[in-house]
Amino acid sequence: MTILVTGGAGYIGSHCVQHLMSHGHSVVVFDDLSTGYERFVLSPHFVKGNTRDKALLVKTIQDFHVTAVMHFAASCYVGESVNEPGKYYGNNVYGTLQLLDAMRETKVSQLVFSSTCATYGVPQTLPLTEEHPLNPISPYGKTKRIVEMMMEDYSLAYGLNYVALRYFNAAGADSTGKLGEAHEPETHLIPLVLQTATGKRKNIQIFGTDYDTPDGTCIRDYIHIVDIAEAHRLALTYLTAGNSSDVFNLGTGHGFSVREIIQACEQITGKPIAVVEAPRRPGDPAKLVANAAKANKVLGWKPAFGELTEIIRTAWQWEQQVTELPSLSR
Ligand SMILES: NC(=O)c1ccc[n+]([C@@H]2O[C@H](COP(=O)([O-])OP(=O)(O)OC[C@H]3O[C@@H](n4cnc5c(N)ncnc54)[C@H](O)[C@@H]3O)[C@@H](O)[C@H]2O)c1
Repeated sequence: MTILVTGGAGYIGSHCVQHLMSHGHSVVVFDDLSTGYERFVLSPHFVKGNTRDKALLVKTIQDFHVTAVMHFAASCYVGESVNEPGKYYGNNVYGTLQLLDAMRETKVSQLVFSSTCATYGVPQTLPLTEEHPLNPISPYGKTKRIVEMMMEDYSLAYGLNYVALRYFNAAGADSTGKLGEAHEPETHLIPLVLQTATGKRKNIQIFGTDYDTPDGTCIRDYIHIVDIAEAHRLALTYLTAGNSSDVFNLGTGHGFSVREIIQACEQITGKPIAVVEAPRRPGDPAKLVANAAKANKVLGWKPAFGELTEIIRTAWQWEQQVTELPSLSR
């Protein structure tokens, strides 16, 4: 089986490539390196290109005899999507439309898609199940929901078989030290806190300390990157076994507040972390926690790195090493 991985030079995509290759799959990475890094491309097969280039996608699928696709390539900053929605509709929606048409033209019908808990919007009930109403509030979340709807329609019209995985907060790094989180700018809490521990940042801002949560700060569900990679592998196995298209949450079901994350990072790094309290950001729900029972039951997926300490320990290992690198040049 040869798998085309779009966005395979990015944080989550590169970990999935490594995981798939370690399970004997042949992988072709397709990435424009807009936010990813060539040094993260672990497969010998790399095509530098943008998903909006359908002809290049078709050629890549044909040249490498691709049999399935995992689609990570996207713009993924919630805040930026509010200020630059056109970039998000262009890259995430139009880029995916080109990919779906390239798959249709080449008769590749299996697709695993990176969706997000941002498709739910503000939770009405917790933990969030796949049945929760879908009311995304940011352009980013809306583009992911639109792609889910496009896949539903392509499935009915053209026989596309897809799995959409709605991740909660991806975190951590693989244990080999080759890969880790390196977004520019970084917006995710755990790397930001750890960069404060290394001295790369002066302090960590807590946006909102008056939420209706036990310590007043937002609660999120953090999931280890290798567990996400394993869910992709299982989703592909599910599709190749002939099962029908579906959507699954990926989370641990445990929520941690911003203050709890900071405390855990202080314990693991042994360093004090300076905190600045700031007002709430618009659009941040107090609590987002997954019910991932469906992925467990149907895909047989169970997080192996369920402990927060393991997530932070691997992220810290990576963060210390990355500060010693001259640069992460693309
Ligand atoms: N990080 C999270 O916590 C999280 C949570 C939910 C969903 N997701 C989704 O997971 C996916 C990967 O996220 P990430 O954190 O690894 O981001 P990332 O920015 O590290 O990776 C995205 C990769 O896609 C590439 N890319 C972007 N647009 C492209 C295009 N049009 N054509 C080709 N390559 C393109 C980038 O160069 C990069 O390598 C995204 O689809 C994101 O929306 C991430």
